[in-house]
Amino acid sequence: MEPAPPRLTDTVRIYEVGPRDGLQNEAALIATDAKLRYVELLVAAGLREIEATSFVSPKAIPQLADADDLLPRLPDAEGVRYPVLVPNERGMARAEAAGARALAVFTAATDAFTERNIGMTVKVSLDAAAPVLRRAADLGWWRRGYVSTAFGCPYTGAVEPARAAEVGLRLLELGVDEVCFGDTIGVGVPGQVAALVDAAVRSGIPIDRIAFHFHDTRGTALANVAAGLDAGVRCFDASAGGTGGCPYAPGAAGNLATEDLVYLLDASRWVHGVDLEGVLVAARFAAATLGKPLATKVGQAGGWDPATGREKFRA
Ligand code: HMG
Ligand code: MG
Repeated sequence: MEPAPPRLTDTVRIYEVGPRDGLQNEAALIATDAKLRYVELLVAAGLREIEATSFVSPKAIPQLADADDLLPRLPDAEGVRYPVLVPNERGMARAEAAGARALAVFTAATDAFTERNIGMTVKVSLDAAAPVLRRAADLGWWRRGYVSTAFGCPYTGAVEPARAAEVGLRLLELGVDEVCFGDTIGVGVPGQVAALVDAAVRSGIPIDRIAFHFHDTRGTALANVAAGLDAGVRCFDASAGGTGGCPYAPGAAGNLATEDLVYLLDASRWVHGVDLEGVLVAARFAAATLGKPLATKVGQAGGWDPATGREKFRA
């Protein structure tokens, strides 16, 4: 049987968060040179949006304290964007000095989480993001805004989709190009994804400015991607090697693995520009650097070749 033609009108963006979310929660401090190599491998795999690091307090996230050194050394590859996390004007000044051209600000649906994460209520964090986003707009940077705990909070429990949407809309009003809803502790299920998209679009956030960031704590991330695709969302975050988590969100485990996402998208014939074999090289490098086995599904099983019925790219 002939394979179905690619869905040429439906391109999916894979937004890689391994170097930032993946490394921020690791006990080990990784050398800057190893981070650089990880990013180089991600670029070689075809990833074009790579969240590279954070300009947060080095006391809060010592794992990314080398952001000022790392960012200027990243490969200047054609069409590649390296957003960096910026929590305040101090972080913005550092990001500017390091040569950033894209950023992500971050808040959440719940005060309890933002207070633990950045010592601010949601409202105060939005006030802190406002001048950062204004400055980034003046500089012509691409701007993303995260709404963490959009599916549930480790401190206060269930979150209404309307609440997550309300915070997302506020970020949009502050000038972000894209609102990314985060399932910080990986509790969401597909029905919630559909409900959140519905609430977000009804609130006034255009569908093409919504992205999702799923942690795979309970194995629901890929199902949630499928629900997001069905609902019309075309940007998903993932981490090569499946690392990730937030030190201020107890129970947060790894992000959806980029290799698992790429397998799903390839087999479903979505166009995305990322090469599975290349992602597996990066994922294996990340695991080896962290001294851990590569525990992701496709990392272990490899891909699968429909022409031969055999696995491919298995280590
Ligand atoms: P604070 O202690 O309340 O801030 O931290 P402060 O203004 O009182 O400053 C305290 C010290 O930090 C001062 O230094 C400042 O200069 C310094 P000292 O006088 O003590 O020597 N400082 C900074 N240094 C460097 N860069 C900066 C900076 N800001 C202050 N930008 C702050 C407030 C927001 C800074 C802190 O809480 C922080 O950095 N938090 C970051 C937490 C974080 O990165 N969490 C993980 C990312 S969010 C996430 O993972 C979720 C996501 O993946 C989506 C999802 O999964 O849902 C995005
Ligand atoms: Mg995260």
